[in-house]
Amino acid sequence: MNMQQQTPDQSFGISHWPDTDEIYARLNTLVKQPIRPIRREHMDKVMAYFEQRCQTSKQIAEHAKTVIPGGVQHNLAFNYPFALAVKEANGAHLTDVDDNRYIDFLQAGGPTLLGSNDPVVQQKVIETIQNCGPVTGLLHEYEVKLAELVCRHVPSVDMFRMLGSGTEAVMGAIRLARAYTGRKRVIKIGGAYHGWSDQMVYGMRIPGTGRHEAHGIPRSSTAFTQESFPNHLAAIRRKLMFNRLRGGTAAIIVEPLGPESGTRPVTREFNAGLRQLCDEFGALLIFDEVVSGFRVGMSGAQGYFNVTPDLTIFGKCLTGGYPMAGGIGGRKDIMMVLAGGIGASGSKRAFVGGTLSANPLSCVAGYYALEEMDKRNAAFHAGRAGDRLTAGLSDIIERLKLPYVVYNQGSVVHLQTSGVLLLNARNPIKLLKEVKPRKHMMEEMGAAYMAHGLVTLAGSRMYTSMADTDDIIDEALNRFEDVFKLV
Ligand SMILES: Cc1ncc(COP(=O)(O)O)c(C=O)c1O
Repeated sequence: MNMQQQTPDQSFGISHWPDTDEIYARLNTLVKQPIRPIRREHMDKVMAYFEQRCQTSKQIAEHAKTVIPGGVQHNLAFNYPFALAVKEANGAHLTDVDDNRYIDFLQAGGPTLLGSNDPVVQQKVIETIQNCGPVTGLLHEYEVKLAELVCRHVPSVDMFRMLGSGTEAVMGAIRLARAYTGRKRVIKIGGAYHGWSDQMVYGMRIPGTGRHEAHGIPRSSTAFTQESFPNHLAAIRRKLMFNRLRGGTAAIIVEPLGPESGTRPVTREFNAGLRQLCDEFGALLIFDEVVSGFRVGMSGAQGYFNVTPDLTIFGKCLTGGYPMAGGIGGRKDIMMVLAGGIGASGSKRAFVGGTLSANPLSCVAGYYALEEMDKRNAAFHAGRAGDRLTAGLSDIIERLKLPYVVYNQGSVVHLQTSGVLLLNARNPIKLLKEVKPRKHMMEEMGAAYMAHGLVTLAGSRMYTSMADTDDIIDEALNRFEDVFKLV
């Protein structure tokens, strides 16, 4: 893989920024070809694994379907042919209720950069629960300590407000941007995920799909949300100009690694380009660092790209995998519009709340998780593991002459085998015809990885953590090779 600009700096988890043009060229080639799934006779063997080795999970999953819609509560939870129930998570490994052990590249969807269930963080959480339980509703010292830590590591953050989730933090940040600027319109980048609030279920996964998934959401809720394709600064500028004639743009919100956690990578210059456009048009720049925050480095993707947003959304790593991971950070003059408490009522403020927001458990977990990530240089080590995994997969794919595409932004590794995530709304006939079989292939690949002891995120993404030693990655590569030989 060609490498653009090198970053030898060990404080970041991204050693080099991938060559975006080359990745898109390879992804386009993948999407143009017919799919290359696992051969049917081998797929039978994969399914036999679940029947023979996962009976307890199967029973729990069947029961789950009777009380939980669809049987799973996480959209990216692996559930083909059925969800596996997990009983132990430690470091780089998961064990299911039938005692099968897996290398865990889901890592809970990203928050556990130290590896699952880190003992140092766990001990601090237990002590806190013993002292005051998980919540009191009053101020706790660690609320302040966590906020201070975030402000110290992320230079664009003068002040920090903790909320219940990434979704809530995005909602709050958009409300804040609107209250601060007095404008309504928000531009997001097509394909990006910013949680599931009414206004952000728009142009999700595939750029250009607008309200495709907005069932149950009134048109008025997305009336001031606009999407623009990634890497197309000129098109964004046109939107900003158009908006200027209609009251202006409150904010551009962006996942700095690229939409859907970097599945659609952006060029190294894209974020800086957005900063310039925001400055020119007086819009706020919101970095959604729910995935990249602390994973790319303690100063986040903004530190890596050296771009200063006005507001930053935090989630996931913020509490190291413990509950209530969400927060907004930013410039003091903007953040003050969020001021909480009884005295603030009636004043001009963007209202946010949450009974369990900033509870002692989450704050202590977050404080020690971040301290440990910093002390152990977790982003760097997890990023190296991601590089090793990517290089190894790339080598196997080339050797076996498969059309699959692998690329990474440090510890976020993307493995596209079916290309479903890269289909294009500009070709709606192909999209409609191919989305189902390509999605099914991705599910089958996920099942085959699982049957070979590898947990991935929906069969197409892997999060590495600092628990992934070279030996673990090499073992994982052997297993991936076994799966690819079934194609
Ligand atoms: C970039 C991004 N923003 C926001 C969210 C929503 O965060 P949460 O799941 O905590 O609501 C996610 C979740 O995956 C995300 O990846």
